[in-house]
Amino acid sequence: MEVFKYHIFICTQTKPEGVESCVSKSAEQTLAVMREEISKAGLDSDVQITTCGCLGLCGKGPNMIIYPDGVWYSEVSPDKVQEIVQSHLKNGVPVSRWARADQQQMKQEIIDHFNKVKALKELLDRGGMVPDELNALMRGFMESRIILTGLELDIFSAIGTGASAKQVSRKIHAPVRSTEALLNALCAIRVLRKQDEIFYNTTLSSRYLVAGSPDDSRSALMHIAHLWHRWSTLTDAVKKGTSVAKDALKKRSPEATRAFISAMHKNASFASSMVVAQIDLTGVNSLLDLGGGSGAYAIAFARKAPHIKITVFDLPEVIPLTKKYIAQAGLAETIQTKAGDMTRDDFGKGYDLVFVSAICHMFSPKENLKLFKRIKRALNPEGRIVIQDFVLNPDKTSPRFSAIFALNMLVNTRGGGTYSGKEYIDWLSRAGFHKAELVKIPGPTSLVIAKK
Ligand code: FES
Repeated sequence: MEVFKYHIFICTQTKPEGVESCVSKSAEQTLAVMREEISKAGLDSDVQITTCGCLGLCGKGPNMIIYPDGVWYSEVSPDKVQEIVQSHLKNGVPVSRWARADQQQMKQEIIDHFNKVKALKELLDRGGMVPDELNALMRGFMESRIILTGLELDIFSAIGTGASAKQVSRKIHAPVRSTEALLNALCAIRVLRKQDEIFYNTTLSSRYLVAGSPDDSRSALMHIAHLWHRWSTLTDAVKKGTSVAKDALKKRSPEATRAFISAMHKNASFASSMVVAQIDLTGVNSLLDLGGGSGAYAIAFARKAPHIKITVFDLPEVIPLTKKYIAQAGLAETIQTKAGDMTRDDFGKGYDLVFVSAICHMFSPKENLKLFKRIKRALNPEGRIVIQDFVLNPDKTSPRFSAIFALNMLVNTRGGGTYSGKEYIDWLSRAGFHKAELVKIPGPTSLVIAKK
């Protein structure tokens, strides 16, 4: 039995530049219009859409197949979608003038196409050509650099509702030649669009990268721009075994601190209530959020269990920002703050739970062991430590983000890294904790929980 009345497979395969594909023939716009028209027609619960790889008819894209009828449509430009939805999906009558009737010929076209692709691949392989996947990996930094420069120069705000290269160049105080090249490249990576020599923000850039937009994320994303400089020292950091960036071990500038805390707040605001929901707070009356940054998790704890006395501990330069975010959440009276350096200053005692989120990756194994011993002393009998971090699988090559993040810590810290669940459990038991366990939660992080 069909779960949905219709199931559409629409090709959204991209191909190397200059090679015909459904995406180069606006498959993404067709897909967007398709979703919109299906909703408008009230067919959301009748039709499932699945995007798929190459169907072998690239020269005639965008291509799609509608099952269970097995009807193939080629060259489905956005303007054809409404009729297909109304006639085929709503009234059950395929649009015969666009449906492929030439089944045998079409089958041969598909076979010929895949044979051609196979032959080309074999030819390139014999010639020792660097494959596209490897090239794409090697050049990935270029696209990243383009958008980071756009962010650093606040190009997206300068464009506003639309501007020429000359107008933007005046606003950012840069020559027209280089400004225009950057704007064109931003169009090429589809963060901007251009029409009649005027540049416009896309839905994505106008939502997140323009000053004054409700989801303006420039400040948080600037943290990534700051990381760029450190990552460029990776080769030397690998050779030396630690960070070699001259400024990496120094105190962050106030601007970098603001960007970092803002980035952390943005990420944590979304995840915190979900993470806190996974933590059993039975019997918890006093909680320390160690290195709590913006207080996003403390806020989530306070909302889940208003009776708990919560303290956020962080560096003196961070605490004013913590207070600001806590006040914005209307919890200034509920959540306490304490300033200090967690590696050497007293963070108090008598806690039933110490929450350590995104802290351990900054430290070496030895430093983590030392920290866990101090946390144990700060806990009440039967108290718990709850660690949240990017925890690696036993062979340390996955999850992908956690494995890559280990290098972020290599270039940024003296001894930080990402660690496996087994390593955390080992340090916790050496610090005197018991019943240590790894708890997988939805998302990129995991929890490690142990009892005093
Ligand atoms: S790219 Fe869509 S059919 Fe080949």
